[in-house]
Amino acid sequence: MDINLLAVLPVGLEDVGVLELSTLGAKHVRKSKGRISCKVDLAGFYRLHLQARLPFRFLREIKEFTCTGKDSLYHSIQNSCDWEKWLDPSKTFRVNVSGGSIELNHSHFTALTVKNAVVDLQQRIWGERSAINLKSPDLCIHLHIFSGGASLSFDTSSRSLHRRGYREAMGIAPLKENLAAGLIKLSNWDDSLTLFDPLCGSGTFLIEAVSMALSIPPGLFRSFLFEKWPDFDRELWKLESTFAKEHCLLNKTLPPIIGCEKNIEIAKQAEYNISLAGLENYINIKNVDFRDFQLPKIPGVIICNPPYGQRLGNPKDLEIIYRQLGNYLKNNASGWDLWLLSGNSQLSNFLGMKCSRRFPITNGGIDCRWLHYKIH
Ligand SMILES: C[S@@+](CC[C@H](N)C(=O)[O-])C[C@H]1O[C@@H](n2cnc3c(N)ncnc32)[C@H](O)[C@@H]1O
Repeated sequence: MDINLLAVLPVGLEDVGVLELSTLGAKHVRKSKGRISCKVDLAGFYRLHLQARLPFRFLREIKEFTCTGKDSLYHSIQNSCDWEKWLDPSKTFRVNVSGGSIELNHSHFTALTVKNAVVDLQQRIWGERSAINLKSPDLCIHLHIFSGGASLSFDTSSRSLHRRGYREAMGIAPLKENLAAGLIKLSNWDDSLTLFDPLCGSGTFLIEAVSMALSIPPGLFRSFLFEKWPDFDRELWKLESTFAKEHCLLNKTLPPIIGCEKNIEIAKQAEYNISLAGLENYINIKNVDFRDFQLPKIPGVIICNPPYGQRLGNPKDLEIIYRQLGNYLKNNASGWDLWLLSGNSQLSNFLGMKCSRRFPITNGGIDCRWLHYKIH
C-alpha cells in the first residue's frame, strides 16, 4: 500500500528536491513552497529516509479531514486512525501544529485539543494514558490546519534530518547540512572537479559534497521514529540499509577538496567534523587566510558562504572581506566557477564581479541568493 509522504525542505531547493525524491523512486511528486508531496511504497519510504539529503523532515500523512473548530477537531482526531495500534499508554508522544484557520488560530491551544483527544481516548480504552515527552517522544503527532480542514500526520523523526551526526563542532554561523547539500546540487558540481571553500568554517559544504560524491547515505547512522511504528518492517529496512551501504563508493578517487579557515579553533573543529564523518582522506583543511592560499592550476569550483552581517561582523569588516575575496578571485581564479550564498546584496556588490545566475534561497528565515559567477 502506498504511503502519502510530505518532505519539508529549505525554500529554494524545491526543484532539486523533486529530482532527488523522484530519482529515489517517489511517485506523484508535487512541489509547493518549502514542501514536496509524493507517494512511496514501504521500500521507497525506507530508501528516502536513508538516502535523501535535502529534507528537514518527512511527515507521513495519516488522515485529512474537514474541521470546523475545537469540537470537530477533537472528534476527528479520535476517529482518524487506529490509536490502539499506534499509541498504547506505555509510549510517549508530542504534538506539533502548523498552519491555522479562522476557528483554530492558536497553535498551542490546537495542540492541547489534539493531546486531550488522544489521552481521553486512551483512558477510555486502557484506563491510563501516555506521558508527553517533548524532547524524544515515541510518536510525534503533526497536525496541519488549513481553512476548513486539517491533516494529521506522523513525523518520521523527532530531530531535524539536517543533523547527520558528524557535526559536533559548529564554528560560527554554520550552514545546515541539508541546505549545503542542496546548494551543491544546484551548482551542478561534478566530482571530477576540484572543490574549494575559501571560508570553510566547520566544513559543511565540503563534507556534504564528498558524502554525495561517495554516495554515503545520510540516514544510515541515525535512528527514526518509524522504527517504533506498528507497521515497521525490520527485514525490509535491513535490506534497504544493506543496499545503500553496498552502494557507497568508499574507494573512489576524488579531485582535491580543500577548505581555508583562518581561525585555528574553527579549523580544528572542521577537521574534527571531517574525521567524525570518516572523510579525512578526502578533505584538506588549511588553517590560513584564503589570500595566502595558492589555488591548484586546473580550474574547478569555488563554493562559499561568507558572513553577511545579520549575526556576524560589523559592516566595515564585512565589506573588507568581500573586497578581498573579489580581488583574490579576479587575480588567482581565472577559469573557475564561483558559487556564493549571499544574504546581503550590498555586500556581494563589493566583490566587484557580475553574477551570471541567481537562485533565491531561505537560510534560517533570511532571504538569500545563491549566486553563480564565471571568473574570467
Ligand atoms: C559564515 S562562516 C562559514 C560557515 C561554514 N559554511 C559552515 O558551514 O560552518 C565564515 C568563516 O570564514 C572564516 N574567515 C573569515 N575571513 C577569512 C579569511 N580571510 N580566510 C579564511 N577564513 C576566513 C571565519 O572564521 C568563519 O569561520
